[in-house]
Amino acid sequence: MPKTTSLSYAHQLDQQDSLAHFRERFVIEDPNLIYLDGNSLGRLPKRTVEVMGDAVERQWGQRLIRGWNEGWIHKPTELGAKIARLIGVQPDEVLVSEATSINLFKLAVAALRARPGRGKIVSDMFNFPSDLYIFQGVIDLLGNQHQLELIPSQDSITIPPQAVEAAIDADTALVALTHVAFKSAFMYDMRRVTNLAHQAGALALWDLCHSVGAVPLELNQWGVDLAVGCTYKYLNGGPGSPAFIYVRRDLQQQLISPMWGWFASARPFDFNLDFTPADDISRFRVGTPPILSMLALEPALDITLEAGMERLRRKSVRQTEYLIYLAEQWLYPLGFTLGSPRDPEMRGSHISLRHPEAYRINRALIEALPPAVRVIPDFRAPDNIRLGVAPLYNSFTDIHRAIERIMEIVEKKLYNSYSSERQMIT
Ligand SMILES: Cc1ncc(COP(=O)(O)O)c(C=O)c1O
Repeated sequence: MPKTTSLSYAHQLDQQDSLAHFRERFVIEDPNLIYLDGNSLGRLPKRTVEVMGDAVERQWGQRLIRGWNEGWIHKPTELGAKIARLIGVQPDEVLVSEATSINLFKLAVAALRARPGRGKIVSDMFNFPSDLYIFQGVIDLLGNQHQLELIPSQDSITIPPQAVEAAIDADTALVALTHVAFKSAFMYDMRRVTNLAHQAGALALWDLCHSVGAVPLELNQWGVDLAVGCTYKYLNGGPGSPAFIYVRRDLQQQLISPMWGWFASARPFDFNLDFTPADDISRFRVGTPPILSMLALEPALDITLEAGMERLRRKSVRQTEYLIYLAEQWLYPLGFTLGSPRDPEMRGSHISLRHPEAYRINRALIEALPPAVRVIPDFRAPDNIRLGVAPLYNSFTDIHRAIERIMEIVEKKLYNSYSSERQMIT
């Protein structure tokens, strides 16, 4: 990629971009708002607006309870089959259900019970706190027979392979990691770590929240046992859209969920008084699925499938490289440092830029008054501004405008007008 900071070069990159037209599939009303937070909450697809109108007015309003037999009941597995294509697994190995944290709970308990006599869960200090809380709660629930060991990082950005090797041993029951770290975007070699887990006799459980829709995944090829992930980030499923759960086919009958809801039973509508688990992935269901949220997810998945993960990843790498280049030219001289791996092979689709005034700069970006361009990234303590690049709808021009605006805020010290008192959601 030839390197220049001119805006016309960003325009040129957009003109050459074969995925640029996907931006038109999304509701983007304010040309002065640059949205770089698709790694927290993806944008609204236009088609979702139509689908939700139909879901509420016709399906719920007119079809009422008949909707269940007219398709609602199959949504968790149908949507699961679409996600299966994005993560490289079989259609009957994925189910859309609940939240990531809940799915993680089900799988962590099931996995530990499948490895009796082993006392360790290996995770890392980059993991999303909810994941670590779930593991701590699971250990408590199972009578404090297990230890949670967190692989350390020396530089707060990466975890070296030797540190992973050192943590996994013959006492390890479960290796449970987030594939792309929420703060630095560090990405594990999933195949390699899964192999290490298997060589030690442990199961491997991956959190794909920051990977699905951002990087190509081949879980079957990589031998992965278990995975969970959310759909509201790069998959654009909407606020609180349901998560997914993957259980490799040969493990489906060996593992048992700790939540024996009626939808997990072999025949929910027989209303038997004793629980018999379904003999497929359905045993990881719990209760009635949130149909409106499920219906909202479908158009978003279709767009991602149509664009294709390989093409999306290629664009994402070009965009994050471009972002880093502009940061090197404009922001590093102002005290910023890179909080993500420099090698694109080792990172997902967001870039963290670190600065001592990151929180107030972030607020100045978000709260700017017109005619200034408004930029929405997010802030992660202690000093990271996370810039999420969603190649489905972010343009190279977005990136140019956002980095230029950060430069302006810091050069003119515009952040001085904002309080450093933290808001509830950052
Ligand atoms: C990596 C990761 N894991 C887990 C979660 C929690 O997901 P949920 O709120 O769906 O339980 C998040 C939320 O952002 C996340 O980023």
